[in-house]
Amino acid sequence: MFTALVTGGAGFIGANFILLARNKQWLNVVNLDKLTYASNLQTLAELQDDINYHFVRGDIGNVELVSYLLEQYQPDAIINFAAESHVDRSILSPQEFIQTNVSGTFNLLEASRFYWQKLSLQKQQQFRFLHVSTDEVYGSLNLKDPAFREDTPYAPNSPYAASKAASDHFVRAYYHTYGLPTLTTNCSNNYGPRQFPEKLIPLIILNALDYKPLPIYGDGQNIRDWLYVIDHCEAIYLVLQQGKIGETYNIGGLNERANVNVVEKICAILDELVPKSDFNYSSLMTFVKDRPGHDKRYAIDCSKIKRDLGWQPQENFDSGLLKTVQWYLSNSYWVNQVRSGAYKNWLKQNYENRKS
Ligand code: NAD
Ligand code: DAU
Repeated sequence: MFTALVTGGAGFIGANFILLARNKQWLNVVNLDKLTYASNLQTLAELQDDINYHFVRGDIGNVELVSYLLEQYQPDAIINFAAESHVDRSILSPQEFIQTNVSGTFNLLEASRFYWQKLSLQKQQQFRFLHVSTDEVYGSLNLKDPAFREDTPYAPNSPYAASKAASDHFVRAYYHTYGLPTLTTNCSNNYGPRQFPEKLIPLIILNALDYKPLPIYGDGQNIRDWLYVIDHCEAIYLVLQQGKIGETYNIGGLNERANVNVVEKICAILDELVPKSDFNYSSLMTFVKDRPGHDKRYAIDCSKIKRDLGWQPQENFDSGLLKTVQWYLSNSYWVNQVRSGAYKNWLKQNYENRKS
């Protein structure tokens, strides 16, 4: 079985990917994660006795550490999930986004290049550097615009999106300049179990259960294309195995929803699962001050990965959202662990001045 160095594997998508990779025996995994506020090692507790899973706390920007790990474990692939990933945080303090998403990815590429150049020809041909990126690099769509394709020009609008765009460009440059066998995936909004509750869906679920306001930015008509996280993980593994080196693949849910409708749907699920007499969760919905530069609409044209690799999303939004709500209801230990003082400070920082 191949070994992969997975970065950011204690975060939402990385951890779901590692759990799948080990349960399905896809890969042996070395997980390098800095353990920022967004991570939770509890998510991976079930792998503690797995001899083919190793966790290392560290920064992707630390070339010496990454080079040591590459020498030590001789991975056949690097899958780069590590990032600062929240748009609102990038608006309030962009510095960390440059540090990890741009400089960190650059340093990871440098360490990978040195490692890859020293491999045997056969190992060089097998090796892959897969960079996990986002649809936000393409900017914002109007309602009638066609969905983002792989050749849509980059037009990032938030510091987060700009930092991811920069990292994508470096990955591309390392393929063209040095021949490093890279792959890039650009995916739409993920949802599912184990997502840190700063993002819309888990935030709404947990606020509703605490009878707190459900904050909807602006008029709630911004549209996102939601994909169940397991479908994203399956797509990444497929691209890793069969993707054409140097290429990028768009991954999307074929599931565009206005934010207000997503929130209404969560409320309706909670009305069913945790009913309260004379109270509907939707009564907590609150329209608040908009996100600066808020992108209107994202939509992904994923015909390339469908056509070339035979991927398509398996989960539909109704069943995926139900599973997600159920997961948060049944995992209060996990939830309580991530809702620390730092989380409460974040809620204060982001929402206190938003009341409209
Ligand atoms: P996340 O914020 O939940 O997790 C990020 C992880 O990276 C955390 O465990 C954190 O500790 C780690 N990390 C941060 N800086 C690091 C560093 N310098 N070195 C090592 N580890 C570091 O993010 P996520 O939602 O799981 O997203 C994973 C990747 O997928 C990101 O690159 C993101 O841009 C991309 N993406 C996310 C979505 C989404 O909807 N969440 C959609 C498309 C693409
Ligand atoms: O599109 C892919 C991107 O999706 C990823 O690259 C990012 O890492 C990920 O965070 C996500 O970005 P968004 O900004 O779209 O996700 P978020 O959950 O923060 O917000 C989803 C939508 O909901 C967005 O239009 C803003 C809105 N929103 C968000 C929050 C947190 C609200 O209305 N209220 C909120 O409290």
